[in-house]
Amino acid sequence: MWDVEIKNGTLVHADRLEKANVYIKDGKIAAVSATELPGAEKTIDASGQYVFPGFIDTHVHSRDPGGTHKEDFAHSTRAAAAGGITSIFEMPNTKPPVDNPANFDAQKANLSEKAFVDFGLWGICLGHLNNDQQLPLAKKGVIGLKFFWGYAVHQKTFELMYNYKPGMEDVIPPFTDGEVYEMFEHAAKTDKVFAIHAENSALIQQLTARVEARGGKTYRDLLEGRPSLAESLTIETGISMARATGARLHILHISTKEGVELVRKAQQEGLPITGETCPHYLFLHEGDYEKVGPKMKVYPPVKFKEDQDALWEGLADGTLSHVCSDHAPHTAEEKDGDLWSIPAGMCGVESLAPLMLNAVSEGRLELTDVSRLLAEGPAKLFGVDKQKGTLAIGSDADVTIVDMNVHKPIVEAELHSKSKVTAYDGFPVKGWPVMTIVRGHVQMAEGQLAEKECGQLILPDDLS
Ligand code: DOR
Ligand code: ZN
Repeated sequence: MWDVEIKNGTLVHADRLEKANVYIKDGKIAAVSATELPGAEKTIDASGQYVFPGFIDTHVHSRDPGGTHKEDFAHSTRAAAAGGITSIFEMPNTKPPVDNPANFDAQKANLSEKAFVDFGLWGICLGHLNNDQQLPLAKKGVIGLKFFWGYAVHQKTFELMYNYKPGMEDVIPPFTDGEVYEMFEHAAKTDKVFAIHAENSALIQQLTARVEARGGKTYRDLLEGRPSLAESLTIETGISMARATGARLHILHISTKEGVELVRKAQQEGLPITGETCPHYLFLHEGDYEKVGPKMKVYPPVKFKEDQDALWEGLADGTLSHVCSDHAPHTAEEKDGDLWSIPAGMCGVESLAPLMLNAVSEGRLELTDVSRLLAEGPAKLFGVDKQKGTLAIGSDADVTIVDMNVHKPIVEAELHSKSKVTAYDGFPVKGWPVMTIVRGHVQMAEGQLAEKECGQLILPDDLS
């Protein structure tokens, strides 16, 4: 009758706890019952544990294809399962990028065979290079449209230039505000979220040159060259353009109190503007640099304690829709250098849920908040909530089982990513995912991964 029964656990919805058993049939949640129903082929006993809708990480750079010496999809999706994540949304800045329907199909084929958990695909916005592809990408099934605001683009490969200097050959400089406006116009014709990396590159170039000229080398110097203003300037411009065009603007990885406040105000005005943040902005601040070192370099950079406090408030009052990892591995060799020359980014997909669960243990969040921020919130924002992010009957049987009594640290060497660079090596966590179930397949149990891939492409509800 049922393929799997999860019994004796406490279900954690976004708005309440419920003592009930979950019954899975053909990869879907087939029944939820306070009393035991007969006829299950396999029983999972979740006594003393919490049963969450499978966690979603909406911001993952698996770098496959193009940067597979740093990370690939086989590794990132195993890391996801190990950390209690059942779905990831893969960023489009691969080589080639997901910039048109043909590349969407190619990426679907490339990732499907390696996928250990389910995955959605972001589409990339490259200004005049692919404005006409935004609607076709939306119709094809991208989860959202991403614009790396402030980045230059290689004319031939469409790669993002992380270390752009004016005058570089074959490089399209960062798009002007006029060009960005046209991207917003095209995005507004789709029903997709238009998500931006919000950092003003002109300001950063100017201020960083100044800091470099006086020989600045510290983390504070880095922040002087890449200040909060860089983020708030771009968010303000973005909100103005969203107001003018009607685009569904989403601000990625917000790192500042000004960013949260701007999104809050825009929402009060009734604009369809959303924002997310990441664990590094919630659990680290500038004062941690002394202890953590260059591993904590990310863009936008981790700011100050007051920014961290404002981000927690933004989560509490619902200004921010969800938390995601911005999983962006670089090799240990690449990360081992001076602060200025090393690349920005760290592993995150495997530590996202443990860190958020630890925040529950510390009394910062309720269990239901974790369900809202890692499951229901992202599923609703990206229009996959009929399939994901809930324990409702008929939805995919994606489940993360959590034991709040497991107390152990995050250990860098034990991460499942290809490059294992994290700012949280040794960070003590109370509350760990102990089982990851993807459409009824147990992909992780007690830290042990399954043998086989089972992941599939997620299409938005209206296309699936
Ligand atoms: O720190 C970062 N690293 N921020 C980004 O936005 C990109 C990422 C990467 O791809 O390395
Ligand atoms: Zn990113």
